[in-house]
Amino acid sequence: MPKITYLGHSGFVIEGRETSLVIDPFLEGNPLAVAEPSDIKADYVLVTHGHPDHLGDSIAIAKANGATVIAPFELATYCEGKGAKAHPMHIGGGYDFPFGRVKLTIAHHGSAVPGDSGMEYAGSPCGFLVEIDGKNIYHAGDTGLFLDMKLIGELTEIDAALLPVGGNFTMDVDDAVRAVEFLRPKLAVPMHYNTFDVIKADPDDFRKKVEALKRKAAVLKAGESIEI
Ligand code: NI
Ligand code: MN
Repeated sequence: MPKITYLGHSGFVIEGRETSLVIDPFLEGNPLAVAEPSDIKADYVLVTHGHPDHLGDSIAIAKANGATVIAPFELATYCEGKGAKAHPMHIGGGYDFPFGRVKLTIAHHGSAVPGDSGMEYAGSPCGFLVEIDGKNIYHAGDTGLFLDMKLIGELTEIDAALLPVGGNFTMDVDDAVRAVEFLRPKLAVPMHYNTFDVIKADPDDFRKKVEALKRKAAVLKAGESIEI
C-alpha cells in the first residue's frame, strides 16, 4: 500500500488505506484510456495544469464524487467557478490533508484553459509530492528536466516517481533517465508517451536505462496497478 493505477497519459489513481486520489484524469478523448470518467472514485482530484490532456475530466469527476480539486491557485479558482470544490495551493507550499501531505513543486511548462478567445492563462503548472500512508509519490506533471530535481530528491525520500518521457512537450526518455539520477526514487514509472504521434517513445528503453542505474522501473499499461 498505497496502490497506484495508471489511467494512461499522465493519469493515475492512488488508493490509500482510507482515501483515494486521482491525478490528471484525462479519459474522454484519450485514445489509450480504458476507464470512463464515471468509473473513477476519488476523494481528491489533483490537477497539475490546465491543458486539456491533464485537466481532462477532473471537474466532472470532482463533482460526481463530491471530491476536492487540489491545484495551483489560478486553476483551482477556475475549477471552483465550474462548480467543483477546490483547495488552492502554490509552488513550494505544502498542506496536511486528512490522508497525508501534498506539496507543489515547480514544473517548466505552461498552463491554460479553454476561454472565449482561445486559451486563457491558468497560472503556473506544477508537479505534486504526495505523502500517503507513509509513502512519498512524486508526479512531475508536464516538465522539462530541471536541476532542482536534485533538491526534491534530497528533501524527500521518493518511493515512486511518475515521470514524463514522451518528448516534444516534456522530457524525453534520456532526460527522464537523468531525472531519475537526480531524484533517486525507489521506483520510476514513465508517463505522457504514445498517446499522440508527437510523443512517441519506447517505455522499455526508459526501463532498461533506469535499471542500468541499479534502480527499479515499472512500465504500466492503462488499467494496470502497482503497490508500493
Ligand atoms: Ni501540458
Ligand atoms: Mn501534457
